[in-house]
Amino acid sequence: MAFPATRMRRLRRTDALRALVRETELAVSDLVYPMFVEHGIDRRRPVEAMPGVERLSISHAVEEAGEAHALGVPAVLLFGIPAEKDELGSGAYDDEGVVQLAVRALKEAHPDLIVITDVCLCEYTSHGHCGAVREDGYVDNDRSLELLARTAVSHARAGADAVAPSDMMDGRVGALRAQLDSEGFTELPLIAYSAKFASAFYGPFREAADSTPAFGDRRAYQMDPANGDEAVREALLDVEEGADIVMVKPALPYLDVVRRVKDATGLPVAAYNVSGEYAMIKAAAAAGHLDERATVLEALTGIRRAGADIVITYHAKDVARWLS
Ligand code: PBG
Repeated sequence: MAFPATRMRRLRRTDALRALVRETELAVSDLVYPMFVEHGIDRRRPVEAMPGVERLSISHAVEEAGEAHALGVPAVLLFGIPAEKDELGSGAYDDEGVVQLAVRALKEAHPDLIVITDVCLCEYTSHGHCGAVREDGYVDNDRSLELLARTAVSHARAGADAVAPSDMMDGRVGALRAQLDSEGFTELPLIAYSAKFASAFYGPFREAADSTPAFGDRRAYQMDPANGDEAVREALLDVEEGADIVMVKPALPYLDVVRRVKDATGLPVAAYNVSGEYAMIKAAAAAGHLDERATVLEALTGIRRAGADIVITYHAKDVARWLS
């Protein structure tokens, strides 16, 4: 039935009516707060492109995570910046590495906080790539799997509640699952960065995590931004290999992929609202061009509407305050 029998504005007339028919709810319980922990510092170091985001010492990370948790944010995602880097990223799978130490400290201080660790080598390798590099500069897939699996087990031993491989090597989900299971961590969830695109939106993160590749780029392992069918294939492969949650990253330029991955897998889907997405809103808001609160809430609601169950975002603490 068309106009005038149908008037879409009838249900938009008041706040209460709008709330009654609202389809998508953005809740603090769906948010994950990413944090950068740096080895051997004793202060907070601001990340220039990301106002409000800092590299933290372990004790500051405990404080920061406690604040987020008190605001209702259920989970953090940890990235580590080691004291030293080497060819094979040994800091990633060192039981006394920065993430391992941070996980122990965080779980001791906040036992109910969900501590997720990013499993990758790029913050730990001298060349900044996400795996072991062959002499010809190519990232060696199968050699990297071993190191990534060791990293995941080391995080599990430290007490991580979930591990999230972000390297985009083929077969890493299966390799991590097998290694975790053989070490007794059969109950540890695996959150796969399934559709991770080779994105320009990671720029500020690489400053924050000190992980810019020393040569080349990541296009030989991260996905081509043009490909949606391939993203679905990646997600389905990860499901087959044992992923418990699949992720799409970045979020805002890939909302169609979020929807397709949700429909194709039926798994809980996480979307990563990445550093560049955060930096854009922050910069525009600081210049007075955007209302930060309204823009962030709209962007994150859009990510949820696209099909994401979980939103990983640097805005998490602000959103928790705004929603309370
Ligand atoms: C790397 C990793 C990256 C991000 C999360 N894990 C960067 C990259 O692939 O270069 C990006 C997150 C962000 O931009 O906020 N393993």
